[in-house]
Amino acid sequence: MAVEFTLNGEWRDFAGDPRTPLLDVLRDGCRMTGTKSVCRAGFCGACTVMVGGEPVPSCQRPIGMLEGAEIVTIEGIAPPEELNPVQRAFLEHDVVQCGMCFPGMVITLTDFLRRNAAPTRSGIKEALSGNMCRCTGYERIIDAVMSIRETETPAAEAVSR
Ligand code: FES
Ligand code: FES
Repeated sequence: MAVEFTLNGEWRDFAGDPRTPLLDVLRDGCRMTGTKSVCRAGFCGACTVMVGGEPVPSCQRPIGMLEGAEIVTIEGIAPPEELNPVQRAFLEHDVVQCGMCFPGMVITLTDFLRRNAAPTRSGIKEALSGNMCRCTGYERIIDAVMSIRETETPAAEAVSR
């Protein structure tokens, strides 16, 4: 089966088993290894990418269901050589440890901030309920997100490329 989709704004195609998880298509077929493979069961959020403007666990999306889909990975969440506000805040607050969870968190939080111009700590916690981190206590992550000024809310354009 052949499937066509856009990946970070460029047309791509896949030919093979339609049950192949998007996660494997991205990492093995497209060499987009920023998307991480951890639980492969829909629990940890490490594999989160944007599909049609919504954050989804790519390990749970068979490629056969994604004909014509617009997919954005961590590699496409900001223009080349730039960071989006969530990435910049994570860097400034020194929150990254092993980094396995962070691509998925950046995708989730970018979407969250697009929808919430004035985030609260409890709102951020709820937004991150599907993104597991086993290295940090989450507090610095929340501090980082709270530091993002309203004017720096990730643009819709950056998450729908
Ligand atoms: S690897 Fe997909 S949710 Fe954990
Ligand atoms: S920084 Fe290691 S799992 Fe989150």
